[in-house]
Amino acid sequence: MNSIVAVSDLRKRFNLEAGFFSRFGRFVYAVNGVSFTIGENESFGLVGESGCGKTTTARLLVRMYESDGGKISYRGADIKNFGRAELSRYRAKVKYVFQDPARSLDPRMSVYDVLVSGLRCSALWPGKKQAREKAAAILEEAGLAAGDLERRPAEFSGGQRQRISIARGLIMEPELLVCDEVVSALDVSIQGQILNLLLDLRGRRKLSFLFIAHDLKVASWFCDRIAVMYKGEIMESAPAAGLYKNARHPYTRLLFSAAPNALQADAPRAGAFTAFKGEVRTALAASSGCAFAERCPFAESRCLAGKPELSGDGGHLVRCFL
Ligand SMILES: Nc1ncnc2c1ncn2[C@@H]1O[C@H](COP(=O)(O)OP(=O)(O)OP(=O)(O)O)[C@@H](O)[C@H]1O
Ligand code: SF4
Ligand SMILES: [Mg+2]
Repeated sequence: MNSIVAVSDLRKRFNLEAGFFSRFGRFVYAVNGVSFTIGENESFGLVGESGCGKTTTARLLVRMYESDGGKISYRGADIKNFGRAELSRYRAKVKYVFQDPARSLDPRMSVYDVLVSGLRCSALWPGKKQAREKAAAILEEAGLAAGDLERRPAEFSGGQRQRISIARGLIMEPELLVCDEVVSALDVSIQGQILNLLLDLRGRRKLSFLFIAHDLKVASWFCDRIAVMYKGEIMESAPAAGLYKNARHPYTRLLFSAAPNALQADAPRAGAFTAFKGEVRTALAASSGCAFAERCPFAESRCLAGKPELSGDGGHLVRCFL
């Protein structure tokens, strides 16, 4: 399978101190050596608790942040070398859909203006008449009505706003949609509707996804492959079906056990989505050994002394000494 993006050993740290104190450099290692690829028409899931580095990874991928190390390639080209025009073409092809549509949709703009704002200042602008037709068609594809173009985002429910957000992403004709917690803030039944919409779009438009979620079972349902992140590192990475049946890392098992629901274990995508609840607590302290050691029931002395490598076979990789 041809990969659209390939990420290797990606790193990003943030300085916790500002001004004078910044020279003493206390850092949070938000993304700490992350590697993955996303192929054509593939859904790759990035899963983990709040603060594990999912959004930072996504923002690095579209160069909203510059990395401190590692490499991101788009169809073989290092995105670090992209000039302004190439970067803007790249961001149309690898399109970020924001975590929080309530905040990312300007309440003063009409839905039409929200949808075409990116298009307007790009080389893809087709002219006024065609832009309106395109916006209407994409809004309908996202499950709203063409007549909604004149309304304001504030007039819509959370799920409908998420549809507007997705439509805004689609209008640039992307190859890969970066969906950052697009269903997390929604009611369980609405979650299912949005996930089914994404699945539809994936089939119809041959889209790829970087699907970010803190909920492993939601991601298992939607994705082909999943990486589980903890404190900026990938702890386990595997085909979604395999991970569901055969989670090996203690953290992955914790995540699965923390999300009781109605999904069928043997058929991650059989029939329509059935939603569920469940969340686990966050850990923030830094560590020099295994990042998960402080919460791991199997931790032994070697787990504190050194970091396990991410290793394995058959596409199933685990970062654990056991
Ligand atoms: N701009 C920033 N400045 C300083 N620290 C940041 C910044 N962005 C993220 N961080 C820190 O980096 C770590 C990773 O954050 P990130 O937003 O990537 O996590 P996340 O997995 O997306 O979490 P959530 O599920 O809550 O969205 C956190 O400790 C966060 O506080
Ligand atoms: S390396 Fe040790 S602490 Fe880390 S997950 Fe494995 S057993 Fe637990
Ligand atoms: Mg996030």
